[in-house]
Amino acid sequence: MQTLNAITPLRARLKSWRLAGQSIGFVPTMGNLHAGHLTLVQLAQDRADRVVVSVFVNPTQFGPAEDFAGYPRTLEEDKRLLVAEGVDILFAPTVADMYDDGDAHTAKIEVPGLSDILCGAVRPGHFSGVATVVAKLFNIVQPDLAVFGEKDFQQLLVIRKLSADLNFPIEILGAPIGREADGLAYSSRNRYLTDSERATAPLLRKILSDVGESLRAGRHDYQVLQRNAIEALAAAGFKPDYLEIREASDLRLPGPDSEDLVVLAAAYLGKARLIDNIRLNRR
Ligand code: PAJ
Repeated sequence: MQTLNAITPLRARLKSWRLAGQSIGFVPTMGNLHAGHLTLVQLAQDRADRVVVSVFVNPTQFGPAEDFAGYPRTLEEDKRLLVAEGVDILFAPTVADMYDDGDAHTAKIEVPGLSDILCGAVRPGHFSGVATVVAKLFNIVQPDLAVFGEKDFQQLLVIRKLSADLNFPIEILGAPIGREADGLAYSSRNRYLTDSERATAPLLRKILSDVGESLRAGRHDYQVLQRNAIEALAAAGFKPDYLEIREASDLRLPGPDSEDLVVLAAAYLGKARLIDNIRLNRR
């Protein structure tokens, strides 16, 4: 595996593969890699001749009171994992490589509507930061396909919309949520949990699944289901940002006959902001 920090040599390397007719798969990450990230890498490897992984903790997607400074940076361990997976290139730029005029002065991509609800409502500017850095990374790598996790379900939809609206010729693949044996979704932020919070954390998935069961049984009193689930989270010690039932295709509010649903939640447990979701189809 070659590790490259600068854009120009990366482009030269990618060009040689493109000229040789090889397809390029891309997995953008913020590092501190775990088994969830590695599933994305494996999917990219199944679908493309060459795989590029980026590790970049992107300042523009963190709010002023969020954990940009403290976000875990473990590049040497990340490299070891990516070498073991047989990744071709690790692209690990600095903030200056990515935002050479400073991240406050960069041109921005907005994906209105989808970016303003759920996580976007409680993290203003977050999805603009994500969309902007992903568009930049797409332009730098110019992959044939890119893989994103369904764990960040709203992010995946924002990126699909961004890619369609701006005509990026890139296939966007969603990868299923990777979970610990007890159901907790892998996340770099799980390391903020104390031992007792870690024992409580799988309840998030359990409470989402219970809502899913009620929906599968045909209930459509969505407000009641949401309120009860939020109360259950709070009673277990979470501080919920939201728990909502939405249309899976575009995150609109569902009607009584909606079939393709997603139940999404974000909640603090101590210092860790956990997000998770479950999808279900009632057809
Ligand atoms: P990061 O949180 O590092 O996640 C990188 C990719 O891994 C995302 O597509 C995310 O959805 C996926 N992922 C994380 N945990 C997962 C899990 N348990 N199961 C499946 N996939 C999982 O998401 C970002 O970084 C950034 O916003 C980024 C897209 C890189 C832009 O900066």
